[in-house]
Amino acid sequence: MRDVAIIGVGQTAVEEHWGRSLRHLAHDAIMPALADAGIETADALYVGNMLSGELSGQEHLGALVADFVGLRGIEALKVEAACGSGAAALRVGLMAVASGIHDVVLVCGVEKMTDAISHEITSGLATAADQEYEVSQGVSFVGLNALLMRRYMYEYGVKHEQFAGFALNAHRNGANNPNAMFRSPISQATYLRAGMIADPINLMDSSPVCDGAACVVLAAADRHRAKAKAHILASAVATDSLAIHDRRDPLALDAVALSTQKALAQARLTTADIQVFEAHDAFSIMAALSLEAAGFAPRGAGVCLAVDDEIGIHGRMPISTMGGLKARGHPVGATGVYQIVELVQQLTGQAGANQVPGAHIGMAQNIGGSGATVLTHILAAA
Ligand code: COA
Repeated sequence: MRDVAIIGVGQTAVEEHWGRSLRHLAHDAIMPALADAGIETADALYVGNMLSGELSGQEHLGALVADFVGLRGIEALKVEAACGSGAAALRVGLMAVASGIHDVVLVCGVEKMTDAISHEITSGLATAADQEYEVSQGVSFVGLNALLMRRYMYEYGVKHEQFAGFALNAHRNGANNPNAMFRSPISQATYLRAGMIADPINLMDSSPVCDGAACVVLAAADRHRAKAKAHILASAVATDSLAIHDRRDPLALDAVALSTQKALAQARLTTADIQVFEAHDAFSIMAALSLEAAGFAPRGAGVCLAVDDEIGIHGRMPISTMGGLKARGHPVGATGVYQIVELVQQLTGQAGANQVPGAHIGMAQNIGGSGATVLTHILAAA
């Protein structure tokens, strides 16, 4: 297998892009990524997206986007793994370059959610869950996460306010990220008085509905070494049942554990070597559970990491360093690529006020559904 480098990145701001369609958003991320890499074309394009069919009536994004960015004729495919679609596209791109099939590929995550009305978005997001055994019972995706959060609070005797630190950290970091949806820090009081969405998940426990696109250019490192911004040390995917009730233990994200262990083994690293972790904080309960399953905290203690000394920029394990899914925003199928763009910013010293000092090794984890598909990537500075 060949060493794969990231040689260019691009992103749009995450917001309500009412004036831009799917193809425009993808274009707005791909063109700066190509310019950043100093190239005009690529061998292939992999598009990560979850909801284009459901919300825009548009599938077939590979050819659509390739044509719109002036690359008609190249190999181009859409890759889907619910909210993990962005990292799934990255993995396909990585395999294409590592195997020698292609030398330079584009990986673009794009999602357009805000043109649809609320119940369509809720139904669309619920396609990540098990339709026959979960959604048919009337539960929404936020509802499933609320059940997990309630169970966690019950099992471990945790109070709701103990989760506040995840949202405070994300919003503080989002305030310094020009591409983040939410650019204002929040206080503990704001967290406590936020409206309830699905008890116990309140507005500040939840990522928003939003639009955005991000792109990375991957290349064979031996042929493009001078342009390398970062190297991909590991890429791993693991799966679990879609339905939470089918799992060994609803509070143990086994696919997170498996995916993290596989990635760390590939990179020949341990959790102690990870200096930045872009976690999948779609809900504060997901942040707590994934920190535990990834090995950064014992069972029941993930919520104890929701303090600055632990997850802040200068903490032991900085997470959501550019705002995370909570404050940068979670344009679902694009998120996994945003995480990689942000890791590259950290590893190249371009993260501005959110720079983790001396960051050399970073990990990104993108989760599809409530833990059914988990993709972990580990990057090293070039
Ligand atoms: N965090 C903080 N503020 C938020 C927010 C969030 N997640 N979502 C919306 N807001 C703010 C908006 O900026 C707006 O503020 P303003 O009145 O000052 O302009 C206000 O709340 C209302 O926004 P609106 O877009 O009308 O929100 P909504 O009530 O329609 O939807 C949620 C809010 C949380 C229900 C919606 O964002 C949601 O469903 N999120 C979950 C998405 C999800 O499940 N993703 C998949 C996860 S894997």
